[in-house]
Amino acid sequence: MGRAKKVVLAYSGGVDTSVCIPYLQHEWGVEEVITLAADLGQGDELAPIKEKALNSGASISLVVDGIETFVTDYAFPAIQANALYENQYPLSTALARPLIAKMLVEAAEEYGADAVAHGCTGKGNDQVRFDVSIAALNPNLKVLTPAREWGMSREETIAYGEKYGIPAPVKKSSPYSIDKNLLGRAIEAGVLEDPWAEPPEEVYEMTTAIADTPDEPAYVEISFEKGIPVALNGTAYDPVALITEMNQLAGQHGVGRIDMIENRLVGIKSREIYETPALSVLIQAHRDLESLVLTPDLSQYKRTLEETYAKLVYNGQWYSPLKEALDAFIQKTQERVSGTVRVKLFKGLSSAVGRKSANSIYSPDLATYGAEDKFDHKAAEGFVYVWGLPTRVWAEVGRQ
Ligand code: ARG
Repeated sequence: MGRAKKVVLAYSGGVDTSVCIPYLQHEWGVEEVITLAADLGQGDELAPIKEKALNSGASISLVVDGIETFVTDYAFPAIQANALYENQYPLSTALARPLIAKMLVEAAEEYGADAVAHGCTGKGNDQVRFDVSIAALNPNLKVLTPAREWGMSREETIAYGEKYGIPAPVKKSSPYSIDKNLLGRAIEAGVLEDPWAEPPEEVYEMTTAIADTPDEPAYVEISFEKGIPVALNGTAYDPVALITEMNQLAGQHGVGRIDMIENRLVGIKSREIYETPALSVLIQAHRDLESLVLTPDLSQYKRTLEETYAKLVYNGQWYSPLKEALDAFIQKTQERVSGTVRVKLFKGLSSAVGRKSANSIYSPDLATYGAEDKFDHKAAEGFVYVWGLPTRVWAEVGRQ
C-alpha cells in the first residue's frame, strides 16, 4: 500500500523536485505523479521544464501561468499593508508560496489526486508555507514531502536520479541557493553563510552595482488608486507591466538590495540577500502617500498591524482567519489612499521627494509659519495646560 495513489507535485525543474518523481513512485508506491510548474515571472523557460518532468516519469506535466494573479492578489495587498518582515524583507518569496499551494490544491481537485507534494527540506520556511496553506485550502489532502524525509546528500540525490534517467546537472551548480520570481530574488548559502563577508557582486542580477549606476538621478512619479499602484510617470500600466518597469527603473540605479540576518520560523538564523527593486520602492512610496491622507491615529495603529501582517505572511498564515481579518481592516484604510508620489532614484537610494493627493489632509494654512497662518495659537495654551496636567500633578507630589 502506497502513501497515496495520485499526487500533484510542485515542480521547478531542479534536481530535487525531479528526483521526487521516481522517489514518490518507487519508494512510496505512488501510482501517478502529475507535476505542476508555476510561472510567477521567474524568467525560466517553461517548455523544457515541462518536458523534463515527463522524462522524469510524470504522467502529466502542467505549467500554470500565475503571474498576474501573483501581482494583483498577493503583491498588491502586501504593498497596501507595507509588509516588511523584520522591517526589511518585502516577502518576495513568502508571497509566492500560498499561490503555488492554491494551484496545487486546484489541480489535485481537478485531477482527482489524493495528495499533493513539494520538494522543500525541513530547515526552511517554505515547507511551513506550503503545508499550512494546503491544509487551509483543503484539509483532506495529504501532503507528501520526500525531500524532508529521504535524508540523501546532494551527491546521493543526484546518483538516485541518474538511476531513473534524470541527468546530473550539466553546469557546475552555483554555490548559492537562489529563489526568484517577478517580485525579486533571494540568495543564500556559499560565502554568504559568513555574516561578516560582504556579498560578492556576482550574487546580484536585478540591480546594478553602485559603481556602475548613472551619475544623474532618475525621478519616477508613482500613482496609486486605493493603495494600488496604477501608473508610472502619468502612464497607466497593467499590474505585471508596472512591476516589470519599476524593477527595471529602480534596478538600474542599484535600488532594492537587502542584506540581512533573518529569523526563520524554524528557529534558525539565516543570512539572506534580496533584490526587490520594484517592491521596495512601491512600499516606500505607498507608505509616504499614506502619511499625507491618513489621520495620525489611523496611520499609527495601522503601523502596528503591518508588523503582524508581515509576520503572518512570513510564517505561512496567508489563509489564516487573522490574516483575513487584517485584510478587511487594511482594505478599509485604503479608501482614500489615492494620489501620486515622486521618488528619486540615485546610487542605490530611493527617496520620496514629493507627494500629492486629492484626499490630502495636510493643511498648508495650518502648517505654515508665514502670515497666512490659520492656526489658533491661543487654543494651544489651554490644550497644553490640560495635556500636561497629570505630569504637573505627579511632579508636585514628588517634590513634597
Ligand atoms: N528566507 C526567505 C524566505 O523565507 C527566502 C528563502 C528563499 N530561498 C532561497 N533559496 N534563497 O522567504
